Amino acid sequence: MISADLVIAGCRELVTCAGPLPKRGKDMRQIGLVENGWVASSDGVIVFAGTEDDFLARVTPVPGAVTVDAQGKVVLPGFVDAHTHLPFAGDRAREFGLRLQGWTYQQLAERGMGIQTTVKATRAASLDDLVGLSLERLDRMLLTGTTTVEAKSGYGLNLEDEVKQLEALRDAAALHPVEVVPTFMGAHEVPPEYRDNREDYVRLLIASIIPEIGRRGLAEFFDVFCEPGVFSIEETRRLVGAAQAAGFKIKIHADEFVSQGAAELAAEVGAVSAEHLIAVSDEGIVRLGASDTAAILLPGVSFFLMMDKRAPARRLIDAGAVVALASDFNPGSSHLCSMPFILQLGVFTLGLTVEEAIIACTGNAAYAIGRHATAGSLEPGKKMDLLVCDVRDHVSLAYEAGRNPVRTVIKAGKVVVEDGRRAGRR
Ligand code: NIG
Ligand code: FE
Repeated sequence: MISADLVIAGCRELVTCAGPLPKRGKDMRQIGLVENGWVASSDGVIVFAGTEDDFLARVTPVPGAVTVDAQGKVVLPGFVDAHTHLPFAGDRAREFGLRLQGWTYQQLAERGMGIQTTVKATRAASLDDLVGLSLERLDRMLLTGTTTVEAKSGYGLNLEDEVKQLEALRDAAALHPVEVVPTFMGAHEVPPEYRDNREDYVRLLIASIIPEIGRRGLAEFFDVFCEPGVFSIEETRRLVGAAQAAGFKIKIHADEFVSQGAAELAAEVGAVSAEHLIAVSDEGIVRLGASDTAAILLPGVSFFLMMDKRAPARRLIDAGAVVALASDFNPGSSHLCSMPFILQLGVFTLGLTVEEAIIACTGNAAYAIGRHATAGSLEPGKKMDLLVCDVRDHVSLAYEAGRNPVRTVIKAGKVVVEDGRRAGRR
Protein backbone atom coordinates (compact mmCIF):
# COMPACT_ATOMS: atom_id res chain seq x y z
CA MET A 1 0.00 0.00 0.00
CA ILE A 2 1.04 3.61 -0.62
CA SER A 3 0.83 5.84 2.44
CA ALA A 4 -0.33 9.45 2.15
CA ASP A 5 -0.55 12.45 4.48
CA LEU A 6 -2.83 14.50 2.19
CA VAL A 7 -5.81 13.29 0.17
CA ILE A 8 -7.97 15.17 -2.31
CA ALA A 9 -11.17 13.19 -2.40
CA GLY A 10 -13.87 12.70 -4.99
CA CYS A 11 -13.26 15.39 -7.61
CA ARG A 12 -16.05 15.60 -10.13
CA GLU A 13 -13.34 16.14 -12.74
CA LEU A 14 -9.67 15.51 -12.05
CA VAL A 15 -7.57 17.18 -14.74
CA THR A 16 -4.13 15.53 -14.42
CA CYS A 17 -2.45 16.91 -17.58
CA ALA A 18 -0.51 13.63 -17.37
CA GLY A 19 1.82 12.37 -20.08
CA PRO A 20 5.10 13.51 -21.57
CA LEU A 21 5.86 17.22 -21.54
CA PRO A 22 5.93 19.40 -23.49
CA LYS A 23 2.77 18.74 -25.49
CA ARG A 24 2.54 19.80 -29.12
CA GLY A 25 -0.17 19.87 -31.79
CA LYS A 26 -3.13 17.59 -31.07
CA ASP A 27 -1.50 16.37 -27.83
CA MET A 28 -2.27 19.79 -26.36
CA ARG A 29 -5.88 18.59 -26.10
CA GLN A 30 -4.93 15.65 -23.88
CA ILE A 31 -5.66 16.89 -20.38
CA GLY A 32 -5.79 13.47 -18.70
CA LEU A 33 -9.34 13.75 -17.41
CA VAL A 34 -10.50 11.38 -14.64
CA GLU A 35 -14.10 11.46 -13.42
CA ASN A 36 -14.50 11.03 -9.66
CA GLY A 37 -10.72 11.29 -9.33
CA TRP A 38 -8.59 11.18 -6.20
CA VAL A 39 -5.12 12.57 -5.55
CA ALA A 40 -2.78 11.79 -2.67
CA SER A 41 0.61 13.05 -1.58
CA SER A 42 3.23 12.35 1.03
CA ASP A 43 5.74 14.97 2.22
CA GLY A 44 4.60 17.34 -0.52
CA VAL A 45 5.15 14.86 -3.35
CA ILE A 46 2.29 13.24 -5.29
CA VAL A 47 2.04 9.50 -4.67
CA PHE A 48 -1.28 8.82 -6.42
CA ALA A 49 -3.62 10.42 -8.98
CA GLY A 50 -6.44 8.33 -10.44
CA THR A 51 -9.82 6.74 -9.91
CA GLU A 52 -11.62 6.15 -6.62
CA ASP A 53 -11.42 2.35 -7.01
CA ASP A 54 -7.67 2.48 -7.55
CA PHE A 55 -7.25 4.85 -4.63
CA LEU A 56 -9.18 2.57 -2.26
CA ALA A 57 -7.21 -0.45 -3.41
CA ARG A 58 -3.77 1.12 -3.23
CA VAL A 59 -3.54 4.09 -0.84
CA THR A 60 -3.67 4.22 2.96
CA PRO A 61 -3.87 7.64 4.61
CA VAL A 62 -1.55 7.86 7.64
CA PRO A 63 -3.14 8.71 11.02
CA GLY A 64 -3.83 12.46 11.08
CA ALA A 65 -3.73 12.76 7.29
CA VAL A 66 -5.51 15.83 5.91
CA THR A 67 -8.45 15.21 3.58
CA VAL A 68 -9.80 17.90 1.25
CA ASP A 69 -13.30 17.17 0.00
CA ALA A 70 -13.51 18.04 -3.70
CA GLN A 71 -17.05 16.73 -4.32
CA GLY A 72 -18.62 18.46 -7.29
CA LYS A 73 -15.40 20.39 -8.01
CA VAL A 74 -12.73 20.46 -10.71
CA VAL A 75 -9.14 19.78 -9.65
CA LEU A 76 -6.13 20.69 -11.76
CA PRO A 77 -2.38 21.33 -11.42
CA GLY A 78 -1.33 24.67 -9.95
CA PHE A 79 -0.90 27.32 -12.63
CA VAL A 80 2.61 28.14 -13.77
CA ASP A 81 2.94 31.80 -14.75
CA ALA A 82 5.95 31.62 -17.06
CA HIS A 83 6.53 35.34 -17.72
CA THR A 84 6.18 38.24 -15.26
CA HIS A 85 8.03 41.42 -14.36
CA LEU A 86 7.16 41.02 -10.67
CA PRO A 87 9.65 43.13 -8.62
CA PHE A 88 8.91 46.69 -9.81
CA ALA A 89 8.02 49.83 -7.85
CA GLY A 90 5.51 52.58 -8.65
CA ASP A 91 2.65 52.38 -11.09
CA ARG A 92 1.74 53.84 -14.46
CA ALA A 93 -1.93 54.70 -13.92
CA ARG A 94 -1.32 58.25 -15.20
CA GLU A 95 0.19 56.90 -18.41
CA PHE A 96 -2.72 54.52 -18.74
CA GLY A 97 -4.91 57.65 -18.65
CA LEU A 98 -2.81 59.17 -21.47
CA ARG A 99 -3.27 56.01 -23.51
CA LEU A 100 -7.02 56.37 -23.11
CA GLN A 101 -6.64 59.85 -24.63
CA GLY A 102 -5.00 58.39 -27.70
CA TRP A 103 -1.28 58.05 -26.96
CA THR A 104 0.23 54.71 -27.87
CA TYR A 105 2.51 52.60 -25.67
CA GLN A 106 5.38 53.26 -28.10
CA GLN A 107 4.73 57.03 -28.15
CA LEU A 108 4.94 57.13 -24.35
CA ALA A 109 8.22 55.19 -24.49
CA GLU A 110 9.67 57.59 -27.09
CA ARG A 111 8.95 60.49 -24.72
CA GLY A 112 10.85 58.96 -21.81
CA MET A 113 7.86 57.39 -20.13
CA GLY A 114 6.89 53.72 -20.26
CA ILE A 115 9.63 51.43 -18.97
CA GLN A 116 11.74 54.50 -18.00
CA THR A 117 9.04 55.67 -15.56
CA THR A 118 9.25 52.34 -13.77
CA VAL A 119 13.07 52.38 -13.88
CA LYS A 120 13.03 55.69 -11.95
CA ALA A 121 10.60 54.36 -9.34
CA THR A 122 12.42 51.06 -8.97
CA ARG A 123 15.84 52.69 -8.59
CA ALA A 124 14.36 54.93 -5.87
CA ALA A 125 12.86 51.99 -3.96
CA SER A 126 14.70 50.16 -1.19
CA LEU A 127 15.25 46.41 -1.09
CA ASP A 128 12.64 46.21 1.67
CA ASP A 129 10.12 48.14 -0.43
CA LEU A 130 10.59 45.69 -3.29
CA VAL A 131 10.32 42.66 -1.02
CA GLY A 132 7.04 44.02 0.41
CA LEU A 133 5.60 44.76 -3.03
CA SER A 134 6.63 41.34 -4.31
CA LEU A 135 5.02 39.58 -1.34
CA GLU A 136 1.70 41.40 -1.84
CA ARG A 137 1.71 40.43 -5.51
CA LEU A 138 2.64 36.82 -4.77
CA ASP A 139 -0.36 36.68 -2.43
CA ARG A 140 -2.61 37.96 -5.20
CA MET A 141 -1.19 35.42 -7.63
CA LEU A 142 -1.63 32.55 -5.19
CA LEU A 143 -5.30 33.44 -4.66
CA THR A 144 -5.85 32.98 -8.39
CA GLY A 145 -4.00 29.66 -8.45
CA THR A 146 -0.41 30.49 -9.44
CA THR A 147 1.90 28.10 -7.59
CA THR A 148 5.07 28.73 -9.64
CA VAL A 149 6.06 32.05 -11.19
CA GLU A 150 8.90 33.23 -13.37
CA ALA A 151 9.95 36.78 -12.46
CA LYS A 152 12.23 39.15 -14.34
CA SER A 153 14.35 42.05 -13.18
CA GLY A 154 14.91 44.76 -15.80
CA TYR A 155 13.82 47.99 -14.13
CA GLY A 156 17.20 48.66 -12.51
CA LEU A 157 19.36 48.70 -15.65
CA ASN A 158 22.58 49.01 -13.66
CA LEU A 159 24.40 46.45 -11.55
CA GLU A 160 23.27 47.77 -8.17
CA ASP A 161 19.58 48.09 -8.97
CA GLU A 162 19.33 44.88 -10.98
CA VAL A 163 20.93 43.07 -8.03
CA LYS A 164 18.42 44.78 -5.72
CA GLN A 165 15.50 43.50 -7.81
CA LEU A 166 16.90 39.97 -7.91
CA GLU A 167 17.65 40.00 -4.17
CA ALA A 168 14.07 41.15 -3.57
CA LEU A 169 12.89 38.09 -5.47
CA ARG A 170 15.19 35.83 -3.47
CA ASP A 171 14.06 37.33 -0.14
CA ALA A 172 10.34 37.33 -1.04
CA ALA A 173 10.53 33.74 -2.26
CA ALA A 174 12.05 32.66 1.07
CA LEU A 175 8.96 34.07 2.84
CA HIS A 176 6.25 32.86 0.47
CA PRO A 177 4.89 29.51 -0.71
CA VAL A 178 4.85 30.42 -4.42
CA GLU A 179 8.01 29.11 -6.12
CA VAL A 180 9.83 31.95 -7.85
CA VAL A 181 12.08 31.31 -10.87
CA PRO A 182 14.33 34.38 -11.30
CA THR A 183 15.35 35.87 -14.65
CA PHE A 184 17.94 38.62 -15.10
CA MET A 185 16.71 41.14 -17.66
CA GLY A 186 19.30 43.91 -17.61
CA ALA A 187 18.69 44.09 -21.38
CA HIS A 188 15.08 45.20 -20.97
CA GLU A 189 15.83 48.71 -22.26
CA VAL A 190 18.78 51.08 -22.73
CA PRO A 191 18.90 53.18 -19.54
CA PRO A 192 18.51 56.97 -19.87
CA GLU A 193 22.17 57.69 -19.02
CA TYR A 194 23.26 55.63 -22.06
CA ARG A 195 20.66 56.96 -24.52
CA ASP A 196 23.30 58.66 -26.67
CA ASN A 197 25.88 55.89 -26.45
CA ARG A 198 23.90 52.68 -26.39
CA GLU A 199 26.87 50.63 -27.53
CA ASP A 200 28.55 51.45 -24.21
CA TYR A 201 25.60 49.92 -22.33
CA VAL A 202 25.72 46.75 -24.43
CA ARG A 203 29.47 46.51 -23.71
CA LEU A 204 28.94 47.13 -20.01
CA LEU A 205 26.36 44.34 -19.87
CA ILE A 206 28.66 41.94 -21.71
CA ALA A 207 31.91 42.79 -19.96
CA SER A 208 30.73 43.23 -16.44
CA ILE A 209 27.03 43.10 -15.43
CA ILE A 210 26.12 39.74 -17.01
CA PRO A 211 29.21 37.90 -15.65
CA GLU A 212 28.78 39.49 -12.21
CA ILE A 213 25.08 38.50 -11.88
CA GLY A 214 26.12 35.04 -13.10
CA ARG A 215 28.82 34.83 -10.41
CA ARG A 216 26.36 35.83 -7.71
CA GLY A 217 23.94 33.10 -8.81
CA LEU A 218 20.93 35.37 -8.47
CA ALA A 219 19.13 34.27 -11.63
CA GLU A 220 18.63 31.14 -13.67
CA PHE A 221 17.62 32.77 -16.97
CA PHE A 222 18.77 35.75 -19.02
CA ASP A 223 16.17 37.66 -21.07
CA VAL A 224 16.54 40.45 -23.65
CA PHE A 225 13.92 42.67 -25.32
CA CYS A 226 14.76 42.00 -28.97
CA GLU A 227 12.67 44.60 -30.77
CA PRO A 228 13.43 47.36 -33.31
CA GLY A 229 14.35 50.45 -31.27
CA VAL A 230 15.30 48.44 -28.19
CA PHE A 231 17.93 45.72 -28.88
CA SER A 232 18.74 44.70 -32.45
CA ILE A 233 19.30 41.14 -33.65
CA GLU A 234 23.06 41.63 -33.64
CA GLU A 235 23.08 43.16 -30.15
CA THR A 236 20.82 40.35 -28.93
CA ARG A 237 23.14 37.76 -30.41
CA ARG A 238 26.12 39.25 -28.56
CA LEU A 239 24.22 39.58 -25.28
CA VAL A 240 22.94 36.02 -25.49
CA GLY A 241 26.46 34.72 -26.18
CA ALA A 242 27.75 36.48 -23.06
CA ALA A 243 24.83 35.20 -20.99
CA GLN A 244 25.36 31.62 -22.14
CA ALA A 245 29.06 31.92 -21.30
CA ALA A 246 28.06 33.11 -17.82
CA GLY A 247 25.87 30.03 -17.32
CA PHE A 248 22.41 31.46 -17.95
CA LYS A 249 19.64 29.71 -19.85
CA ILE A 250 18.04 31.99 -22.40
CA LYS A 251 14.65 33.62 -22.87
CA ILE A 252 13.95 36.27 -25.49
CA HIS A 253 11.22 38.94 -25.62
CA ALA A 254 10.69 38.28 -29.32
CA ASP A 255 8.67 40.07 -32.00
CA GLU A 256 6.32 41.77 -29.57
CA PHE A 257 5.25 44.63 -31.85
CA VAL A 258 7.45 44.49 -34.97
CA SER A 259 9.28 41.43 -36.25
CA GLN A 260 13.00 41.60 -36.79
CA GLY A 261 13.49 37.85 -36.79
CA ALA A 262 13.76 37.43 -33.03
CA ALA A 263 11.81 34.15 -32.95
CA GLU A 264 14.19 32.72 -35.56
CA LEU A 265 17.13 33.84 -33.43
CA ALA A 266 15.60 32.29 -30.30
CA ALA A 267 15.31 28.92 -32.05
CA GLU A 268 18.82 29.25 -33.49
CA VAL A 269 20.52 29.93 -30.13
CA GLY A 270 18.56 27.20 -28.35
CA ALA A 271 16.60 29.60 -26.13
CA VAL A 272 14.29 27.88 -23.66
CA SER A 273 11.54 30.25 -24.79
CA ALA A 274 10.59 33.02 -27.21
CA GLU A 275 8.01 35.25 -25.57
CA HIS A 276 5.26 37.59 -26.91
CA LEU A 277 5.36 36.79 -30.69
CA ILE A 278 2.44 39.06 -31.62
CA ALA A 279 4.38 40.03 -34.75
CA VAL A 280 6.24 36.74 -35.37
CA SER A 281 7.07 36.13 -39.05
CA ASP A 282 5.97 33.12 -41.11
CA GLU A 283 9.55 31.86 -40.99
CA GLY A 284 9.65 32.38 -37.22
CA ILE A 285 6.57 30.17 -36.83
CA VAL A 286 8.18 27.40 -38.88
CA ARG A 287 11.46 27.63 -36.93
CA LEU A 288 9.75 27.55 -33.55
CA GLY A 289 7.64 24.60 -34.68
CA ALA A 290 10.78 22.64 -35.52
CA SER A 291 12.58 23.59 -32.29
CA ASP A 292 12.47 22.87 -28.56
CA THR A 293 12.07 26.58 -27.84
CA ALA A 294 8.70 27.21 -26.18
CA ALA A 295 6.43 29.95 -27.56
CA ILE A 296 5.11 31.84 -24.54
CA LEU A 297 2.08 33.87 -25.60
CA LEU A 298 0.89 36.79 -23.48
CA PRO A 299 -2.70 37.62 -24.39
CA GLY A 300 -2.87 40.17 -21.55
CA VAL A 301 -0.76 42.53 -23.71
CA SER A 302 -3.11 42.75 -26.71
CA PHE A 303 -5.96 43.12 -24.21
CA PHE A 304 -4.31 45.74 -21.99
CA LEU A 305 -2.91 47.76 -24.91
CA MET A 306 -6.23 47.39 -26.76
CA MET A 307 -4.54 46.04 -29.87
CA ASP A 308 -6.37 44.22 -32.63
CA LYS A 309 -3.27 42.23 -33.43
CA ARG A 310 -2.74 39.00 -31.49
CA ALA A 311 -0.16 36.27 -31.39
CA PRO A 312 -0.94 33.59 -34.03
CA ALA A 313 -1.61 30.83 -31.51
CA ARG A 314 -3.36 28.43 -33.89
CA ARG A 315 -0.66 28.69 -36.51
CA LEU A 316 2.01 28.07 -33.89
CA ILE A 317 0.19 24.98 -32.59
CA ASP A 318 -0.35 23.69 -36.14
CA ALA A 319 3.36 24.20 -36.84
CA GLY A 320 4.18 21.97 -33.85
CA ALA A 321 5.43 24.69 -31.50
CA VAL A 322 5.27 24.24 -27.73
CA VAL A 323 2.68 26.89 -26.85
CA ALA A 324 2.40 28.25 -23.30
CA LEU A 325 0.41 31.16 -21.87
CA ALA A 326 1.55 33.65 -19.23
CA SER A 327 0.43 36.94 -17.71
CA ASP A 328 3.41 39.24 -18.49
CA PHE A 329 2.41 40.98 -15.25
CA ASN A 330 4.02 44.45 -15.44
CA PRO A 331 2.93 48.06 -14.85
CA GLY A 332 2.76 49.13 -18.50
CA SER A 333 1.63 46.60 -21.05
CA SER A 334 -0.20 43.99 -18.95
CA HIS A 335 -1.13 45.09 -15.46
CA LEU A 336 -2.83 41.84 -14.55
CA CYS A 337 -1.70 38.63 -12.94
CA SER A 338 -4.75 36.34 -12.79
CA MET A 339 -4.02 33.06 -14.57
CA PRO A 340 -7.74 32.12 -14.78
CA PHE A 341 -8.21 35.35 -16.73
CA ILE A 342 -5.19 34.56 -18.93
CA LEU A 343 -6.65 31.10 -19.61
CA GLN A 344 -9.92 32.79 -20.59
CA LEU A 345 -8.12 35.31 -22.83
CA GLY A 346 -6.33 32.37 -24.45
CA VAL A 347 -9.69 30.91 -25.36
CA PHE A 348 -11.62 34.09 -26.18
CA THR A 349 -8.91 36.11 -27.92
CA LEU A 350 -6.36 33.59 -29.24
CA GLY A 351 -8.82 30.89 -30.26
CA LEU A 352 -7.45 28.06 -28.13
CA THR A 353 -9.71 25.25 -27.01
CA VAL A 354 -10.18 25.09 -23.24
CA GLU A 355 -8.06 21.94 -23.15
CA GLU A 356 -5.21 23.63 -25.04
CA ALA A 357 -5.42 26.65 -22.76
CA ILE A 358 -5.21 24.43 -19.67
CA ILE A 359 -2.06 22.69 -20.98
CA ALA A 360 -0.63 26.09 -21.96
CA CYS A 361 -1.07 27.39 -18.39
CA THR A 362 0.26 24.24 -16.67
CA GLY A 363 2.41 21.55 -18.33
CA ASN A 364 3.75 23.57 -21.25
CA ALA A 365 4.27 26.61 -19.02
CA ALA A 366 6.31 24.45 -16.63
CA TYR A 367 8.42 23.29 -19.59
CA ALA A 368 8.91 26.91 -20.66
CA ILE A 369 10.70 27.67 -17.37
CA GLY A 370 12.47 24.34 -17.01
CA ARG A 371 10.20 23.00 -14.24
CA HIS A 372 8.40 20.19 -16.09
CA ALA A 373 10.14 17.49 -14.01
CA THR A 374 8.48 18.78 -10.84
CA ALA A 375 5.44 20.85 -11.86
CA GLY A 376 2.76 21.20 -14.53
CA SER A 377 0.88 17.92 -14.06
CA LEU A 378 -0.62 15.75 -11.33
CA GLU A 379 1.44 12.56 -11.51
CA PRO A 380 3.33 10.49 -8.93
CA GLY A 381 6.76 11.99 -8.26
CA LYS A 382 5.75 15.59 -8.98
CA LYS A 383 5.22 18.29 -6.38
CA MET A 384 1.76 18.39 -4.85
CA ASP A 385 0.79 21.77 -6.38
CA LEU A 386 -2.95 21.59 -6.95
CA LEU A 387 -6.08 23.72 -7.32
CA VAL A 388 -9.64 22.93 -6.32
CA CYS A 389 -11.98 25.01 -8.50
CA ASP A 390 -15.62 25.69 -7.89
CA VAL A 391 -16.89 24.95 -11.42
CA ARG A 392 -18.96 22.08 -12.82
CA ASP A 393 -16.45 20.94 -15.41
CA HIS A 394 -13.16 22.03 -16.95
CA VAL A 395 -14.90 23.80 -19.85
CA SER A 396 -16.45 26.13 -17.30
CA LEU A 397 -12.99 27.42 -16.39
CA ALA A 398 -13.42 29.53 -19.53
CA TYR A 399 -17.21 29.54 -19.82
CA GLU A 400 -17.52 31.33 -16.48
CA ALA A 401 -15.67 34.26 -18.02
CA GLY A 402 -14.22 36.86 -15.68
CA ARG A 403 -14.53 34.62 -12.64
CA ASN A 404 -11.80 33.35 -10.35
CA PRO A 405 -12.94 29.79 -9.69
CA VAL A 406 -9.99 28.88 -7.43
CA ARG A 407 -11.19 27.99 -3.89
CA THR A 408 -8.39 25.83 -2.49
CA VAL A 409 -4.70 25.91 -3.35
CA ILE A 410 -2.22 23.25 -2.26
CA LYS A 411 1.45 24.15 -2.62
CA ALA A 412 4.04 21.41 -2.03
CA GLY A 413 1.49 19.45 0.01
CA LYS A 414 0.33 22.36 2.20
CA VAL A 415 -3.10 24.00 2.11
CA VAL A 416 -2.18 27.64 1.44
CA VAL A 417 -5.56 28.93 0.21
CA GLU A 418 -8.82 27.76 1.74
CA ASP A 419 -12.30 29.00 0.80
CA GLY A 420 -10.64 31.59 -1.42
CA ARG A 421 -8.52 33.06 1.43
CA ARG A 422 -4.88 32.71 2.43
CA ALA A 423 -4.45 29.92 4.96
CA GLY A 424 -1.40 29.05 7.10
CA ARG A 425 0.23 32.47 6.59
CA ARG A 426 3.73 32.40 5.13
O1 NIG B 1 6.76 42.38 -21.66
N1 NIG B 1 8.24 44.27 -23.65
C1 NIG B 1 8.89 44.69 -22.74
N2 NIG B 1 8.60 44.56 -21.47
C2 NIG B 1 7.29 44.46 -20.93
C3 NIG B 1 6.69 45.78 -20.67
C4 NIG B 1 7.34 46.45 -19.59
C5 NIG B 1 6.75 47.77 -19.23
O2 NIG B 1 5.97 48.38 -19.99
O3 NIG B 1 7.08 48.20 -18.13
C6 NIG B 1 6.46 43.54 -21.74
O4 NIG B 1 5.52 43.95 -22.44
FE1 FE C 1 7.45 40.95 -20.68
